Amino acid sequence: MERDAEEVHIRRALKHDLDAIERLEMAAFSHDQLPRDSLRYYIGAPSVSMLIAEAQRGICAYALVAFHRRSIVGRLYSIAVASDCAGRGVGRKLMSACEASARLRGAHWMRLEVRPDNGGAIALYRNLGYRQFAEVEDFYEDGSNALRLEKPLTAEALTRPRPRPSRM
Ligand SMILES: CC(C)(COP(=O)(O)OP(=O)(O)OC[C@H]1O[C@@H](n2cnc3c(N)ncnc32)[C@H](O)[C@@H]1OP(=O)(O)O)[C@@H](O)C(=O)NCCC(=O)NCCS
Repeated sequence: MERDAEEVHIRRALKHDLDAIERLEMAAFSHDQLPRDSLRYYIGAPSVSMLIAEAQRGICAYALVAFHRRSIVGRLYSIAVASDCAGRGVGRKLMSACEASARLRGAHWMRLEVRPDNGGAIALYRNLGYRQFAEVEDFYEDGSNALRLEKPLTAEALTRPRPRPSRM
C-alpha cells in the first residue's frame, strides 16, 4: 500500500531542537553517532547548515551539511529520518533543501560518504543524481569502507575541472 507523502516544513535547526536531533541521530545510527556536544556546536555554527524537517507531530528528520572556507563543495555529514516517517519522501525533500542551501552558499558540488551496505541511503542518493567517485577503506569506527558520492549542483560545475577529493 502506498503511504501518503508526509507534510513537512523544512527550517534551520535552533538550540531548542537539540534533544530531538540527538534522538534522531542515536536512533538512526549504531556506529559513528555525532555526540551531543558536537550537535550542540553545529546548531547555528557558521560553517554548516543544519536543517530540520518538522511534521505536525513534531521533528521527524534532520540533516547537516558542512562547508569549508573557499571550497566549492558542500559535504553532507549526516541525514537521519525517524523510522516512523521513513518512505514518505522526507529524506528526498530534506536533501533538496540541503542542496538549495549549499547553492546559496556558493557551492557547486555536494559530496557525501555512505556505508556500502546502506542500501536505502544509496538508493536515495542515486535517485537524486549522486554518483560514486571513490571508495575509502576503513572509514567508519567498525572498520567498514565508505563509498564517496558526489553530485554537481550547478551548470557551472560541469564547465570546470572537478574539485580534488579531500584527503580522508
Ligand atoms: C536513508 C534515509 C535518509 C531515507 O529517508 P526517507 O525519508 O525514508 O527516504 P524517501 O522516502 O525520501 O525516499 C526517497 C527515495 O530514496 C530511495 N529509498 C529511500 N529509502 C529506501 C529504502 N529503504 N530502500 C530502497 N530505496 C529507498 C527510493 O528511491 C525513494 O524513492 P521512491 O519513494 O520514489 O521509491 C532514511 O532511511 C534514514 O534516515 N536512514 C537511517 C540513517 C541513514 O542511513 N542515513 C544516511 C547515512 S549516509
